[in-house]
Amino acid sequence: MRATTPSRVHELSPEEQSVYRQLDPVRIPAHVAIIMDGNGRWAGKRMLKRFLGHQQGAESVQFVVETASRIDLPWLTLYAFSLENNLRRPKSEVSFLMKLLRNYLTGNVQRMNDNNVRMTYIGRTHELPTEVQETMQWAAEETAKNTGTTLTLALNYGSRSEIVDSTRALLTSLIAEAHQRGCSLEDLLQVDGIESRVDEHHLTGGLYTAHMPDPDLVIRTSGEQRISNFLLWQIAYSEIFITDRLWPDFRGLHLLEAIANYQHRERRFGGLGESFTDEDLDNLEPADEVAHEIETELTRPSSARSKPVQPASA
Ligand code: FPP
Repeated sequence: MRATTPSRVHELSPEEQSVYRQLDPVRIPAHVAIIMDGNGRWAGKRMLKRFLGHQQGAESVQFVVETASRIDLPWLTLYAFSLENNLRRPKSEVSFLMKLLRNYLTGNVQRMNDNNVRMTYIGRTHELPTEVQETMQWAAEETAKNTGTTLTLALNYGSRSEIVDSTRALLTSLIAEAHQRGCSLEDLLQVDGIESRVDEHHLTGGLYTAHMPDPDLVIRTSGEQRISNFLLWQIAYSEIFITDRLWPDFRGLHLLEAIANYQHRERRFGGLGESFTDEDLDNLEPADEVAHEIETELTRPSSARSKPVQPASA
């Protein structure tokens, strides 16, 4: 657990510092994932072409990454280009986004190194144009030794296809193992038990994000209340923060505000949460008494069961 204030907080702007001071440095999330949305609307509002919205969006990316690195955020994942963007947007927009990505990488690797940011990617990146893949690989290699924030760009990414890819990888490895042991897949699963070979642990291990913690906080800009096929498996218990701000207007300050909001939430992970105290627990009716009460209630004829209170007007 990171208990101390990171050494680069003095590099935050005065506005950012005033929000940062309200944060509990011990409870900075380990992983923030952002659905960057609203580039087109940002441009439309200014009577500009959509591509200028994307260009401005790329500027926001760098501002947010640098603030993340100053507060020592370990993992930042940005939804930069979805599988659906690739399939459903006009070819001209897709090729502009590809060019923008290459320019962004070549133009910012030095800044990534100055900020100790390591770059990685998730998605079916092997389907992207070769020259884009080459630039991506170069940027990843150039920043591989950095030990601060890991910036992951989701590119040609779709969560359903990620789950499909993980399932395929698991099946392929099971088939190979059966082959090696000289038995059928059916026999292998029968001997070992399908429950132990196909479970959450194995499926998680095959996701592109296997090496990362699940996001604690997902931010979506532009007010849309959707997840858009982003990290569906990984965000099962993430907190979600939606802002009306369009991505090109989003800055590090807004990242810190989202984290402040996150820190006011109580995370329960399906349990009762920290505000449920030991004293509350002591005051609970013993489980066997509750079980008995439920059983008698269920076995009593329906006419004798306690009736729900009817509203006065009913
Ligand atoms: C949504 O805007 C955003 C995207 C299509 C992807 C995000 C892309 C960027 C931020 C720019 C480039 C990124 C990098 C890393 C260089 P939209 O076009 O869907 O907006 P709209 O819903 O208002 O039309």
